Amino acid sequence: MIGMFDSGLGGLSVWRQLVQALPHESVLYLADQGYCPYGPRPQAQIIARAEVITDYLLAQGASLLLIACNTATSAAVRHLRARYPVLPIVGMEPAIKPAVQATQSGKVGVLATRATLAGSKFHELAGQFSEHAQIVSQPGEGFVELVESGDLTSPQARDTVNRALAPLLAAGVDHVVLGCTHYPFLAPLLRQLLPPHIDLIDPSDAVVRQTARLLDQHQLAAPADAVAQYRFVSTDDSGSMHAFMQQILGRDDAVEYLPLPG
Ligand code: SIN
Repeated sequence: MIGMFDSGLGGLSVWRQLVQALPHESVLYLADQGYCPYGPRPQAQIIARAEVITDYLLAQGASLLLIACNTATSAAVRHLRARYPVLPIVGMEPAIKPAVQATQSGKVGVLATRATLAGSKFHELAGQFSEHAQIVSQPGEGFVELVESGDLTSPQARDTVNRALAPLLAAGVDHVVLGCTHYPFLAPLLRQLLPPHIDLIDPSDAVVRQTARLLDQHQLAAPADAVAQYRFVSTDDSGSMHAFMQQILGRDDAVEYLPLPG
């Protein structure tokens, strides 16, 4: 079983790609909505959350961990790999490489949380490609909150998204990398507000391919006749995850409430 987590609902953008590509794999998705957003939290706190969540997912039978959260990957993936040396772990990273390979203007925008953009992982990655293109980073201020509240279209959502896009448009980027798993849910709005020549890049496909590779490599892939089971758990009991899944994913799965200690 694949155990995956995010600070909230954003990782469901990865979940939907994952279950489409790997229809026989059972998946347990944990949304740490009780602690969302992670972006403004200190790194030590994100690491502590990632540990307690990983312990829970392992106790539930996870054999591979997918960190469906850029902020948690940036803050905690090295720590988790050291703490769980035999557990295959897949993390998120902004898909700068394909954007740099495709850019015509030589300018690539990256939208992510402040924590991801301030992290050493992002700086290393941006540094690798800075000779080939100018990397223009921009925090998606308020984006996570919009997605968590299921507001993907309101005038307020448009204003919030427009504010973040303005510096990227002014810089002349022709690709915008979505560096937070919440942001693909805003892709239809981003598409409306961006000129058509600007491409959006979502790293979920690459992450799903890496998950498939690791499952094969560790002989963990489900047999071709396996019937996948899906479980959804949230550390918040407001019911917002169930409502979001109904509204955005058209699913009516039960969401278990887990009051996970901090
Ligand atoms: C957040 O919780 O602040 C965003 C999560 C992410 O970076 O995917």
